[in-house]
Amino acid sequence: MKHSIVYCSPNGATRHVAEVIADRIESLGGSAELLDLGQGSVRRGLDNRLPSESLSACLWVGSPVYVDHMVPPVERFLESLPAGGKGCAVPFVTWGGVNSGVALHEMGRALTARGYALLGAAKVLAVHSSMWRAGEALGAGHPDALDDSAVRSLVDVVMARIAAGGVELLPLSALNYQPEAIREQASRKSIAMAKAFYPALSVMEDRCTQCGECADKCPAGAITLNPHPAFGESCFLCFRCVRECPEEAIPMDMSAAEERIRAMALATNEPYPTRIFT
Ligand SMILES: Cc1cc2nc3c(=O)[nH]c(=O)nc-3n(C[C@H](O)[C@H](O)[C@H](O)COP(=O)(O)O)c2cc1C
Ligand code: SF4
Ligand code: SF4
Repeated sequence: MKHSIVYCSPNGATRHVAEVIADRIESLGGSAELLDLGQGSVRRGLDNRLPSESLSACLWVGSPVYVDHMVPPVERFLESLPAGGKGCAVPFVTWGGVNSGVALHEMGRALTARGYALLGAAKVLAVHSSMWRAGEALGAGHPDALDDSAVRSLVDVVMARIAAGGVELLPLSALNYQPEAIREQASRKSIAMAKAFYPALSVMEDRCTQCGECADKCPAGAITLNPHPAFGESCFLCFRCVRECPEEAIPMDMSAAEERIRAMALATNEPYPTRIFT
């Protein structure tokens, strides 16, 4: 059976989990295709093929948790899936040790609403991707070997369920694991709201060589060279452009955000950093 693993991963942790999944599927005799929504060619390719074709027999969908939710490229991908899908699906998220929010539940809901049967799910602790300048970043060192091993055990359960005819399913309610207070808080949070906490993206034109690296790597296709980069509305604050500009021409002061993130993590203290749902 063919497995498609569709993910977005501006900082690499979700891609790492996707690769662990693919390796395990292949070691168990299945075939796995990795599709990175951060690449414009992949996004456009999926748009063209989805209306007429159900993606595959088993669809794995991975997102980082941003401000308690899945990221916009994953949300758009799920919205674009045709209704009446007949396959099975496994959503997974990586989160940065603050709060895994409601992303997994929302992804499961979107998949079941389009007819997919849930065979499992995972939330995996990862280094917090807006703390790359901080000493002792939240989630540092994750995903580690134990996280990878948990992910492999999820693949084992999913493959066994498929072999058994997919009759044993994960109920969507299992993904509604957050306490009421966190769910209520998540309903008021969004990336648009988070943008107010960060300085606006800008370019130091005297440093910028107009190389286009930031535009190539932006997972939202939000950067146009004009001739220097201009940042569009679809930016979802992944900071990949800031991290990867070879000239350090996109300044961003993260210190206030880092303090706020650490305070939020202390307040939440979420149990089971990495957890599989079967
Ligand atoms: C703008 C932004 C918002 C984030 N929001 C959360 C959050 O609400 N909770 C959390 O635990 N981690 C949060 N993170 C951290 C990411 O979920 C985590 O680092 C994830 O593993 C990143 O995945 P990637 O490496 O595949 O990009 C956020 C990161 C960014 C950049
Ligand atoms: S990556 Fe940096 S140097 Fe290159 S175009 Fe973008 S801002 Fe300019
Ligand atoms: S413009 Fe920069 S911060 Fe915004 S989505 Fe693109 S790479 Fe991420």
